[in-house]
Amino acid sequence: MSKGIIKEEYLKDPRLKDFFDGETSDWAKQKIQEYSKLMAYYKCAMMEIETKFNVLNEDYSLKHERNPISSIKYRLKTPFSIKEKMERKGFPFSLESIEKNLNDIAGVRVVCSFPHDVYALADALLSQDDIVLIEKKDYIANPKKNGYRSLHLIVSVPIFLAHEKRRMKVEIQLRTIAMDFWATLEHQLYYKKDTTFTTEMMEELATCAHMSAELDARMDALRERAQV
Ligand code: GTP
Ligand code: MG
Repeated sequence: MSKGIIKEEYLKDPRLKDFFDGETSDWAKQKIQEYSKLMAYYKCAMMEIETKFNVLNEDYSLKHERNPISSIKYRLKTPFSIKEKMERKGFPFSLESIEKNLNDIAGVRVVCSFPHDVYALADALLSQDDIVLIEKKDYIANPKKNGYRSLHLIVSVPIFLAHEKRRMKVEIQLRTIAMDFWATLEHQLYYKKDTTFTTEMMEELATCAHMSAELDARMDALRERAQV
């Protein structure tokens, strides 16, 4: 088992037992091993995507003497939220079904400097011959009603194991620092279960999103004038 990638504590995570309905049989133990292996593959896929963005950042900074990427974060969906989503969407419960039906097990968030960088990086990634685009949602061109902006891509990327090549799906969110600022704070405000949001508060949130979009546009105009 790939202890380096999925830590041993993760395998011992009691939530994994819940995941397989508290089973302690050999069947469940085997399922836990298989599940952990699948998660290790997703982790490898995120590492591939992260490396691709690091390479693009390096290449761009050599040519333009600035970094288009401010930070990269990634996360693996927890067993709890995988289970919750599978149940909510009514998908049959198996590892094959998880892999087939969920696109956001592996998530990579790329926070960029300017809106221009979001599209330049997305185009550069999608033009790579091992990347397959599965879905694209442009919430920058078409922001969500609450004001959320980001470019979402679902791609598949090959990972090369000892004896096989396997394609894994990764959800990539590209956004600027301003978009990330708004989304991070909105998440803290809105996803708190005991918060009641009035219509007026929703409107205020949308206004803040418009202000962040204007800030992005103005900074991007300066970038263009500075020709960087
Ligand atoms: P999920 O079932 O939640 O994964 O949504 P989806 O399948 O409709 O995908 P979508 O591309 O709309 O959103 C996926 C992810 O984008 C979410 O899990 C969040 O991380 C992020 N996201 C989408 N909408 C919002 C939003 O309104 N606010 C914040 N803060 N994040 C959002
Ligand atoms: Mg999601």
